[in-house]
Amino acid sequence: MARAKSDPPLEKVDAILSSPKNTPARQTAAESQPLEPRLQPGTTEHLPLAGQGELASIAGSVLRASVGSERRTLLVTSANAGEGKTTIASNIAYSLAQQAGARTVIVDANLHAPRLHDLFAVARNPGVESLLFNNLDPESSLHATDLKNLYFMTLGESEHGFLSMFNPLRVHHVLEQLSRLFHIMIFDGPPVFGPSDPAVIANCFNHVLLVVECERTRWEVVQSAKERLREAGGSVAGVILNRRRHYIPKRIYERMR
Ligand SMILES: Nc1ncnc2c1ncn2[C@@H]1O[C@H](COP(=O)(O)OP(=O)(O)OP(=O)(O)O)[C@@H](O)[C@H]1O
Ligand SMILES: [Mg+2]
Repeated sequence: MARAKSDPPLEKVDAILSSPKNTPARQTAAESQPLEPRLQPGTTEHLPLAGQGELASIAGSVLRASVGSERRTLLVTSANAGEGKTTIASNIAYSLAQQAGARTVIVDANLHAPRLHDLFAVARNPGVESLLFNNLDPESSLHATDLKNLYFMTLGESEHGFLSMFNPLRVHHVLEQLSRLFHIMIFDGPPVFGPSDPAVIANCFNHVLLVVECERTRWEVVQSAKERLREAGGSVAGVILNRRRHYIPKRIYERMR
């Protein structure tokens, strides 16, 4: 098979693929690297759930589950479109950056419905695709935000056809580059039952989180999405129920938890 010009060198790919997911940490490398994103910073004022305790505790579990890992990487997906992946992923990233003080990047990987550029109010270009295809350094596609420790990458626009982005070797390469700069890397993925199935890259991540919109997606469909991710080698860390309806006043419900 011919190698694309922008593929990472093969010896590097071998090293990446042969390294076990849970090798001892090199985490301090990320802390010591100064970061100088060249793009305009984004705003967090449109994140609808920022600061919610529930998401902070999910974020905490993700963080604990990844302690000791070489990389702390999370893919957020759902069975169907519109269940709240971007909302949950960006808010988990916010919580990790704010409450755990972890340098965190969220990357838009929803090839057919990218939204991070709108959410953080910046231009869509350049984005992670320049990293995937042009071997540029990560800081050329990186945005800071008004929250210290929270960074993001938009999807960008691709001349290569976005589907070729979902090549595990390319995704490994990007994660490798980002892990030199960040403690936590969160990919806001597409839905499993959509035009670009994230299962093909699921095993590039430490964990996969499945967002389920309550009372909309049938449980069998959720199970089948989970199976698909597991069969592809993804480690499904859990399911997040989004837009949970409260049949008793939320204030009382909160006190009962
Ligand atoms: N818990 C929530 N509270 C309030 N609004 C929400 C919540 N979850 C999602 N939304 C809203 O629902 C809409 C869809 O959410 P979002 O974009 O996060 O879904 P998605 O799964 O990322 O969609 P897509 O599959 O298109 O990427 C958005 O307008 C978002 O603001
Ligand atoms: Mg989305």
